[in-house]
Amino acid sequence: MKLQRVLQYAQRLLKDSIAEGDTVVDATAGNGHDTLFLAQLVGDKGQVYAFDVQKEAVDATLHRLLDHGLEHRALVLNKGHEEVSNFVHKPVAAAIFNLGYLPGSNHDIITQPTTTIQAIEDLLKLLKVGGLIVLVIYHGHPGGKEERDSVIDYVSKLPQKYVHVLKYEFLNQQNDPPFVIALEKMKEYPI
Ligand SMILES: C[S@@+](CC[C@H](N)C(=O)[O-])C[C@H]1O[C@@H](n2cnc3c(N)ncnc32)[C@H](O)[C@@H]1O
Repeated sequence: MKLQRVLQYAQRLLKDSIAEGDTVVDATAGNGHDTLFLAQLVGDKGQVYAFDVQKEAVDATLHRLLDHGLEHRALVLNKGHEEVSNFVHKPVAAAIFNLGYLPGSNHDIITQPTTTIQAIEDLLKLLKVGGLIVLVIYHGHPGGKEERDSVIDYVSKLPQKYVHVLKYEFLNQQNDPPFVIALEKMKEYPI
């Protein structure tokens, strides 16, 4: 048996929690790899909402979708994910975050603890019972460890009756490898 790599595992979780027709969120569109993956899973009746604060990322994501003829399945917004509740008004089956900076671009524009946690909190409200939020946490860059620690602190305190929180991490890899946090909503809760 081969242990699934972190990115493979994140995709496996998404695949297992998304069905055709679902509404899903890519909270950090970047170069659009996850947006495309989500668009392939939701089918023509589904809808992906993708967020990124950088115009460059929005353009790259739109290009990737166009290349695959799937642009009609996604709304790509040049907005921060902390605004998710202004744009998404349907129950969400799954959401993905890739924390950090846009590969091959400006390393100073990174996800931030306050806005990341705000978005997770809002998505927990929007999530269907049984829905999943997947966070791929990159923490090797300046600011990454502060965000990692804030997010872990926040998710570790979520009440287990309402949310199950999983960490998937290789413990003996060098150079701050990314790891996955997954949040499964178990029941509606009063926030
Ligand atoms: C690690 S990259 C995402 C990679 C992407 N998932 C892909 O498939 O290429 C992180 C992205 O988060 C974006 N970002 C930073 N702050 C954000 C915010 N508040 N809301 C949405 N996106 C944000 C950055 O611009 C960057 O493109």
